[in-house]
Amino acid sequence: MNTTAGTTPPGTRDEREAAQWVERMFAAIASKYDLLNHLLSLNIDRSWRAALVRRLSVIFSEPESKVLDLCCGTGDVMLDLEKEGKGSIFGADFCHPMLVAAQAKAARKQSGASLFEADALQLPIADHKLDAVSIAFGFRNLANYNSGLQELHRVLKPGGMLAILEFSQPPGLIMKTAYGFYSRIILPAIGSLVSGSPGAYKYLPDSIQKFPSARELVRMMNAAGFVNTRFELLTGGIAALHTGLAAGRV
Ligand SMILES: C[S@@+](CC[C@H](N)C(=O)[O-])C[C@H]1O[C@@H](n2cnc3c(N)ncnc32)[C@H](O)[C@@H]1O
Repeated sequence: MNTTAGTTPPGTRDEREAAQWVERMFAAIASKYDLLNHLLSLNIDRSWRAALVRRLSVIFSEPESKVLDLCCGTGDVMLDLEKEGKGSIFGADFCHPMLVAAQAKAARKQSGASLFEADALQLPIADHKLDAVSIAFGFRNLANYNSGLQELHRVLKPGGMLAILEFSQPPGLIMKTAYGFYSRIILPAIGSLVSGSPGAYKYLPDSIQKFPSARELVRMMNAAGFVNTRFELLTGGIAALHTGLAAGRV
């Protein structure tokens, strides 16, 4: 299997098995997901999501705009976007228990967002319907990154914005060493203790390690037909926020 095509969880032989592994893994940790997210990132994940929402706010301030938060998980980005914007917001994920958690959170917050279950690689959306797509910490888990980018390009209107928030590899030596120690030793220990799912928190640093660099992701976005593609490193490069605009087909 080509390991740069997409995520390659342990023991999986092809894209179908990789997607199933990811879906089952998120189903197993869904009830502890929010707690672990904020705990393991020392709450810094909130500022990363806020940066993503700020980047999309120009588009989403239009009342007619349609924005999809893909791989929405328990719905935090979707709900933050809704708070800041005026358009219609949708959330999609292929993991049912994550969507159930998102639905419950949306109901508590009296959200008008619409949720649906779908695979990011085969979205039930006609061509060129969306003004923006956000995807926070979901893209790394796709079984095929190029297919994912092509699918996102397909559903965006020409000029529509894709914003990908994802873990990255810090470029500086000190940050790289400190984060390497944290993500390889501390994070799997706490993650497996709290979630009861050791595989999930071993997969997290492994999948970050294998994920394309920020520059490589720019190149892949450009190849899929995005223009004005750029990225911003967050917290010394632990995370990166990529944005690009869908151009006509290349
Ligand atoms: C790390 S969580 C991120 C959730 C949320 N965006 C956040 O910021 O907390 C990744 C989510 O991506 C979803 N996901 C992974 N691969 C997917 C795919 N191919 N299609 C749809 N959802 C997917 C998982 O089910 C999971 O809910």
